[in-house]
Amino acid sequence: MDLSQIQQSLDAAAEEAGRAAAAAATTDELRSIESRVLGKSGPVAGVMALMKSLPGDQRGAVGKLANETKKAIEALFAARREELKHALAAGDQARGAAFDPTLPGPVRLRGAVHPVTAVQWEVEDALARMGFVAVSGPEMESDYYNFEALNIPAMHPARDMQDTFHVDNGCVLRTHTSPCQVRAMERFGAPLRVIAPGRCFRYETLDASHENTFFQVEGLMVDRGISVANLIAVMRVMLQQVFRRELKVRLRPGYFPFVEPGFELDMSCALCDGKGCPVCKRSGWVEVCPCGMVHPNVLRFGGIDPAEFTGFAFGLGLTRLAMMKYGIADIRLLNSADLRALVHPERLCGPLI
Ligand code: PHE
Repeated sequence: MDLSQIQQSLDAAAEEAGRAAAAAATTDELRSIESRVLGKSGPVAGVMALMKSLPGDQRGAVGKLANETKKAIEALFAARREELKHALAAGDQARGAAFDPTLPGPVRLRGAVHPVTAVQWEVEDALARMGFVAVSGPEMESDYYNFEALNIPAMHPARDMQDTFHVDNGCVLRTHTSPCQVRAMERFGAPLRVIAPGRCFRYETLDASHENTFFQVEGLMVDRGISVANLIAVMRVMLQQVFRRELKVRLRPGYFPFVEPGFELDMSCALCDGKGCPVCKRSGWVEVCPCGMVHPNVLRFGGIDPAEFTGFAFGLGLTRLAMMKYGIADIRLLNSADLRALVHPERLCGPLI
């Protein structure tokens, strides 16, 4: 090998080292490449080993070349090491600046049942345990089932109690779930325990406590010897389960043509346990639902003999109950698309009762 060949192979080694250094992505990688290139079995060491076999006058020149190449390669690795250190530090810094540990994590939107549905399920559960079966009826109802068969004949002043949407075909949008009473009696006869949850409609001007579309659950129990005591017991057990606490109930007289006697049922205020608070207007009682003993005429319309059977019925306002349970102050929120009220009513309206 002559001097120019040696020079060529050292230049090639330096060039190869430069490429490998540029390709190194970490300082560790760089270090291992460097020790390979400059190590005992590397190209520079190979040239040094050759020196012994060279004629004496060439040794000095070859040694110089090898040393220069070694220095050049060392300098090249040192420069690349600095470059890598800066790049990695800048990357860390950039990542560090983008990460703010105080930011809240990603919010996953989760669906939830509507508050009215949630309360409906609880009412259904409680009553199902007492043997009540859920039935349904049409939302567009005939005048017969909505009024006539409920002991509210045409021209009866009680029709004024329920502002009604009339449909062109002579039907009405049912003003309550009570039509389901007569339909269930016709279909199943006595004895009978049914509930009928569903949407009702009234021609109301909207405000915080009036909606033209709301939900009720009708309850009807018919058997031999059913009395007001059964009504009170069933309502108390059901409400205790929905509100998850001991409650008292009381009846006040109320008028509905399809029950006799008719009542308004109150329960002890679930917020203050009957001690008196703004929600119950300091009375300790909140009005829950109208109810009463099924009028003999209604039993007859349903094909049941009032001499043999008696029954009670109630018309629980589900929308109202949901408002009470979740502390929702404005009824209009329930038919809105305001997810704050619908998915997390307690967030918008304070703690659950
Ligand atoms: N249907 C009545 C209403 O909506 C409520 C009711 C039901 C009253 C059952 C008594 C018995 O106004």
